[in-house]
Amino acid sequence: NGQWRGVIEEYRDRLPVGEGTPVVTLGEGGTPLVAAQLLSERTGCEVYLKVEGANPTGSFKDRGMTMAITHAKEAGAQAVICASTGNTSASAAAYAVRAGMVCAVLVPQGKIALGKMGQALVHGSRILQVDGNFDDCLTLARGLSEKYPVALVNSVNPARIEGQKTAAFEVVDRLGDAPDLHLLPVGNAGNITAYWKGYQEYAADGPATRTPRMWGFQASGAAPIVRGEPVKDPSTIATAIRIGNPASWSQAEAARDASGGLIDEVTDRQILSAYRLLASREGVFVEPASAASVAGLLKAAESGLLDRGQRVVCTVTGNGLKDPDWAVAGAPQPIVVPVDADAAAERLGLA
Ligand code: F0G
Repeated sequence: NGQWRGVIEEYRDRLPVGEGTPVVTLGEGGTPLVAAQLLSERTGCEVYLKVEGANPTGSFKDRGMTMAITHAKEAGAQAVICASTGNTSASAAAYAVRAGMVCAVLVPQGKIALGKMGQALVHGSRILQVDGNFDDCLTLARGLSEKYPVALVNSVNPARIEGQKTAAFEVVDRLGDAPDLHLLPVGNAGNITAYWKGYQEYAADGPATRTPRMWGFQASGAAPIVRGEPVKDPSTIATAIRIGNPASWSQAEAARDASGGLIDEVTDRQILSAYRLLASREGVFVEPASAASVAGLLKAAESGLLDRGQRVVCTVTGNGLKDPDWAVAGAPQPIVVPVDADAAAERLGLA
């Protein structure tokens, strides 16, 4: 049992790489599938969390980025570009360093979490803050990649989806088969597309006997798929999924329909409540957008949509450290004490 080698080496036979492909990796994937005690109790289901914040740059994007940057390297690209609400840019920035490439990122001005901005900066990427939202950034990034010698590494790049589908493989490899239900947050809709592809491939080739129903959740203020039309000015505290016109919209609908699933919305209040519950009751610190899957689970359970006794996996997509403002906000101030055991004990309620 050697060290986990990253998703390309671990799933090489299921990914578009050849023997001579120069693999660019940070050892992504192999993330924990954590049995969720409180959520299982509350729902009467067997609930697991796929903790994607444990990836090298703190989000699921690394699974796709190892493939996208590897392909860019193989094609001889010297520069990559992406639009991002923060996590894609953090990941692209790190993998570009590994590949010796220049990385340019376009982010919506004032709307990305500080930790993610710090990642793009410390890895030396060139950051442009765009006076617009994510959808505007993606339009701009696409245009630049068509006109200039720079490879686009957003999830419209098929290599990204290939890499991200490995998360579904890992779930099946751990549980012995696909779960009944798989829940995840939906923003640009690449990840739900990728999971569905992975589950379908495993069901077609043997490792799984079936596919799960796919349940995706958008934030209420940024829920174009639920509304059935693009949202011009998307708004949510879950900045990672603040997206009004998802690039993989039709693929997300296809995953929903083919799996007998659903795409629903959760409010910011429900997201924050799930966020706090995950941290305080499950010991899992995620960023707000990540909690949309769990918020969706609790919403479904409360409205009687969730049958008991099912095996359920919720992907929590990104690490809580990326956006610590929400952890600190509203929390009591830490107490200052002198270097004195009795005084400290008293403040802790031990004495
Ligand atoms: N959760 C987190 C933490 C994300 O960063 C994203 C997307 C999603 C969920 C939604 O995934 O877009 O595949 O439906 N973040 C992108 C970014 C948009 O730029 O980092 P999706």
